[in-house]
Amino acid sequence: MKHVRAIYPGTFDPLTNGHLDLIARGAKIFDELVVAILRNSEKSPLFTLEERTQMIADSTRQYQNVTVASFEGLLVDFAREQQASAVLRGIRAISDYEYEFQMALMNRHLAPEFEAVFMMPAEEYSYVSSRLIREVFQLGGSVEGLVPGVVLERLRIKKG
Ligand code: PNS
Repeated sequence: MKHVRAIYPGTFDPLTNGHLDLIARGAKIFDELVVAILRNSEKSPLFTLEERTQMIADSTRQYQNVTVASFEGLLVDFAREQQASAVLRGIRAISDYEYEFQMALMNRHLAPEFEAVFMMPAEEYSYVSSRLIREVFQLGGSVEGLVPGVVLERLRIKKG
């Protein structure tokens, strides 16, 4: 039997319910799903790599086949290292498509052995992005219901 390990890469600053929805879908169809946090993508992230790792691990505890890792450099190099065969990404709206299309084809150019797999999150999260969560939080708005409980808790602690 074929064992398919997929990588779900991203910045996850912070993890949203949209990400979590995609992880649940990915965990259903892949044998193993590695949530991979890109290191050093932002000069001043809202959450450190350790905090993001912890929040993802806490929020995905119920999935036996989901693990959390981090990577630096090219995604395809990490995918090779992990002996993965697919890269999972979420597409919310047409606006995501162009960027994802370019990345998928560049990754295919670099490493034709990986397949890019796209899934749509539940429509209730189709407008949720980490960038908007950060912005709304920093401007004092509520993000309740849009991020997992552990993220909400840590945001509250940050606010003081
Ligand atoms: O959550 P994001 O910010 O949309 O995730 C983007 C990510 C991490 C998937 C992308 O920036 C990435 O893969 N970066 C690693 C560097 C790399 O491989 N670049 C070439 C991809 S075409």
